[in-house]
Amino acid sequence: MSKNLSELSGRKGLRENLFEELGIAATETGSVSKEKSEELAKEFLFGTANVYGTATFYDFLRPENKGKKVYVCNGSSCLTAGTQEKLRTQLGAEFKDEEIGEMCCLGRCHENSSFFFDGHNYSGNDIENIAAIKAGKKQPIDKYNVGRHGTAVLTCDFPGIDAFYKTLDKALQLTPDQLLAELKTSGLRGRGGAGFPIGFKLESCKNTKGDIKFIVCNADEGDPGAYSDRYLLEERPHAVLLGMIIAGYIAGANNGVVYIRGEYPEAIEITQKAIDDIRAKGFIGENILGSGFNYDFKIIRAQGAYICGEETALLSSIEGQRPEVRVRPPYPTQHGLFNKPTVVNNVETLACIRWVIENGGAAFAAIGRGKSTGTKLASLDSFFNKPGIYEVDMGTPLSVLVNDLGGGFRSSIKAMHIGGPLGGLVPVDKINDLTVDFESFSQNGFLLGHASVVCLPSEFPVIKYIEHLFQFTAHESCGKCFPCRLGSTRGYEMVDKAINTDYKMDRELFTDLITTMEIGSLCALGGGLPLPIRNALKYFENELGQYFS
Ligand SMILES: Cc1cc2nc3c(=O)[nH]c(=O)nc-3n(C[C@H](O)[C@H](O)[C@H](O)COP(=O)(O)O)c2cc1C
Ligand code: SF4
Repeated sequence: MSKNLSELSGRKGLRENLFEELGIAATETGSVSKEKSEELAKEFLFGTANVYGTATFYDFLRPENKGKKVYVCNGSSCLTAGTQEKLRTQLGAEFKDEEIGEMCCLGRCHENSSFFFDGHNYSGNDIENIAAIKAGKKQPIDKYNVGRHGTAVLTCDFPGIDAFYKTLDKALQLTPDQLLAELKTSGLRGRGGAGFPIGFKLESCKNTKGDIKFIVCNADEGDPGAYSDRYLLEERPHAVLLGMIIAGYIAGANNGVVYIRGEYPEAIEITQKAIDDIRAKGFIGENILGSGFNYDFKIIRAQGAYICGEETALLSSIEGQRPEVRVRPPYPTQHGLFNKPTVVNNVETLACIRWVIENGGAAFAAIGRGKSTGTKLASLDSFFNKPGIYEVDMGTPLSVLVNDLGGGFRSSIKAMHIGGPLGGLVPVDKINDLTVDFESFSQNGFLLGHASVVCLPSEFPVIKYIEHLFQFTAHESCGKCFPCRLGSTRGYEMVDKAINTDYKMDRELFTDLITTMEIGSLCALGGGLPLPIRNALKYFENELGQYFS
């Protein structure tokens, strides 16, 4: 069924996009009306039930979102910083209770107290000026540290569009095979979490027959605590776009889709402007620089669903289907967007391509450690003395990131949740054992993921954090497989009961539950949640023991 819907959606393709239409339909009131759903169902031949299933899935489209005017961030970093209760009270002075909604992680983890109003994000002390903000008299400001230890692949100065796109000219004079060979030599692995080599994906797509192919940039950056993709889209958008054009040239794809989360309104605006700028200069469009190669972009604004960061759910999302995870194989490089060969890559992965082509694959491979080549961006939250985005050579000691770049902690911390909600919970006494690379983290029972760092202050109960993780997963589960759909809800209920009553959890039952999620879930949402919970059980038994019988 979903394959048929993919074909059907491909009929109108990106030109007139059902998902985009649903977003537009919800702009005025905050949700899609029944009449509009029916109208769109007819227009796109999708069936009312399918359109209803899609519209009610997303935080920003569903009926409960109607009438919301301001949104409080409920992400992990704002939670552990403890800023949101006061923020909500302060917002209450200007907005009715029913006008205040929630969004999950606005990427303002460097100062917290984050909220979204009228197409912009605010944080830190902004709430003190809420009346002026509401009256349109105050513009948002966003300042955080940017630094590095090692090579500047992604944080290097931007020399201007013309100088930067000289690499495009260079690339188009080489053959797709030559460029592919450089990327393979570079050892560049996906930065979105799984660490899959980009060269293999591009080669697979290149070798799959098809007139229409896509390069999709996964800019859904849903991991609470991560804002490095936001940094790239807002501060270095041309690195991402140029990477996508070169990837398209290699794979034989003429279409680039940038799927950007709705929680990043500024990133959407800036990326669109960057696309317009390069169109005006002839770096996209027909017959680019006389090469015969055509390429163009489309931005899709996401509508608030963590699971859309999972690549197959993301593709269903663009197609206007309910974003359920797809069973693989077939892989997107064979049957991807609208059933066409598609490469999905993370923002940071794509942003590395220009450096590789400019400096050579071997130069990139010379940076880093073992199979983790190149550099990695890390996002540090407000518990650091110098919160911000830092680029480090893979293999850099974690202590350098924490102490030298981040300036150490500004208050007492007991653990760092690194790599998003599905990443490991690293106790502070492990800082000296780890280096920032895929292998070091996995060998020590953690996960580098996207390298976001959310701190757990000493006074924050670990059990409350576990409850938060279960609740997050229960809310974000796509519902396709029962270990995740039921397991996350049952886990939340158990932990909530243990916190709020005399109930003691049966340890065997609890272990069975997370083991079932781990081995039985279709994707890494349900399958990955047990990792931080196991870490918590291993390192914080002194706190958690009291909740078990
Ligand atoms: C629940 C879940 C959420 C994910 N969220 C993201 C995300 O926000 N951004 C991202 O690039 N990859 C995310 N991924 C990983 C993607 O499925 C995919 O591996 C990635 O986009 C591939 O790009 P890469 O090879 O460049 O990392 C997520 C995976 C899962 C299971
Ligand atoms: S693990 Fe969760 S999010 Fe992933 S497919 Fe199963 S239900 Fe969906």
